[in-house]
Amino acid sequence: MTGAPVLSVRGLAKQFGATKVLNGVDLDVTPGEVTFLIGPSGGGKSTVLRCLNFLETPTAGEIAFDGQRLCHEDGGVFQAARESVLREARSHMPMVFQHFNLFTHRTALENVIEGPVIVQKRPRAEAIEEGRALLKRVGLAERADYYPGQLSGGQKQRVAIARALAMRPKLILFDEPTSALDPELVSEVLDLIRELAEEGRTMIVVSHEMMFAKRLAGRVHFIAGGRIEESGTPQAIFDDPKSDRLKAFIRSILH
Ligand SMILES: Nc1ncnc2c1ncn2[C@@H]1O[C@H](COP(=O)(O)OP(=O)(O)OP(=O)(O)O)[C@@H](O)[C@H]1O
Ligand SMILES: [Mg+2]
Repeated sequence: MTGAPVLSVRGLAKQFGATKVLNGVDLDVTPGEVTFLIGPSGGGKSTVLRCLNFLETPTAGEIAFDGQRLCHEDGGVFQAARESVLREARSHMPMVFQHFNLFTHRTALENVIEGPVIVQKRPRAEAIEEGRALLKRVGLAERADYYPGQLSGGQKQRVAIARALAMRPKLILFDEPTSALDPELVSEVLDLIRELAEEGRTMIVVSHEMMFAKRLAGRVHFIAGGRIEESGTPQAIFDDPKSDRLKAFIRSILH
């Protein structure tokens, strides 16, 4: 649980044109830790995740991941690492999206092996073997040759999680992984994420499932207005919020 952070973020900022969306986010994630990001719509949660693995390029700040500096400031000038460094980092920091983002013309297994074979250049036979084992791990051994269109939302999300695991991730990013699911399918995905937490996987989870966050999180960050307004244990955040903004947010989700 302890040790050097696998991810360390300082002063992360992001601007789209003249609009400041992130205003200096600091974040440390240690190996084996499950971090939850909560907060109001438009507060910047997705943008934080997307900047961490450079799906979006930050405008300022420092990110260090797995001993590599992904970006920093040099004399006030923002500098990102080489594309090869960013690609490598992204491959070990996969993201699970709300809308699955599976390749629709590829089978479940083909989706899972794409990253290992194309990005990580691992032997195809090995990737297939590992991919089948991962599909079994997420309860989909029988669905390896199905296309996404032939799977339920919960099954698609479990394929997406198997695809993330296939990258041998150091950190998995989840952006509202159950928000697009029918209510009866939510628990199969939450159960799987809980199992991954129990295995000691390191994860950052954006979720509106507050009971789930309360049970699973090591640390919770409340993001609003592009900054972390308050951080703490789940007990501190949910049972003893300090800032008015967090108090109002907790009230609004409990209503
Ligand atoms: N590509 C973009 N161009 C311009 N503005 C953007 C872009 N992406 C996000 N934003 C803006 O950044 C702000 C933060 O958005 P973000 O999606 O990170 O919020 P969020 O906390 O994930 O919200 P939600 O809970 O609704 O998913 C919003 O005001 C949004 O409109
Ligand atoms: Mg979002």
